Amino acid sequence: MAGTENSLQITDYRGLRARVQALTEGETDQVALMATVACEVHCSDDRFDWTGFYRVVAPGLLKIGPYQGGHGCLVIPFEKGVCGACARTGEVQLVPDVDAFPGHIACASSTRSELVLPVRDGQGNLIAVFDIDSDLPDAFSEADASEISAMLASVFGRAT
Ligand code: SME
Repeated sequence: MAGTENSLQITDYRGLRARVQALTEGETDQVALMATVACEVHCSDDRFDWTGFYRVVAPGLLKIGPYQGGHGCLVIPFEKGVCGACARTGEVQLVPDVDAFPGHIACASSTRSELVLPVRDGQGNLIAVFDIDSDLPDAFSEADASEISAMLASVFGRAT
């Protein structure tokens, strides 16, 4: 991953927003949008070790969508995990220490912190959650949550 020898590449959110906007201009297909967002977000930041979507496929049920990184579990009920908590509450889950989160689902034993955000369509319906895992402890900030939430709203608010 790009970055000087002793420093992490941290997301330039203005550049990320511009790239995602340009790449997704005029597109409304959710899978195409998810694949593009997962790719661009994942490649933008050395902190991000797994980046992807879990889609709402039935009431109370999430199923994996486009992602970058090692394999992720395929199905997550709303009652389980950080993703389920996000889907159940509709609230951002900013987890500095996954071992301290009751019911965390460890798709990789290396994960130390996690950020999960709700994804809504233009009518405000929850269509997915966006999950970012890091092998670094306490890797995510409120600014990350705010910037990525705004980008998700701009992309998926037009999705069909
Ligand atoms: N950690 C998530 C599960 C998804 S894997 O991290 C890709 C959770 O607890 O819901």
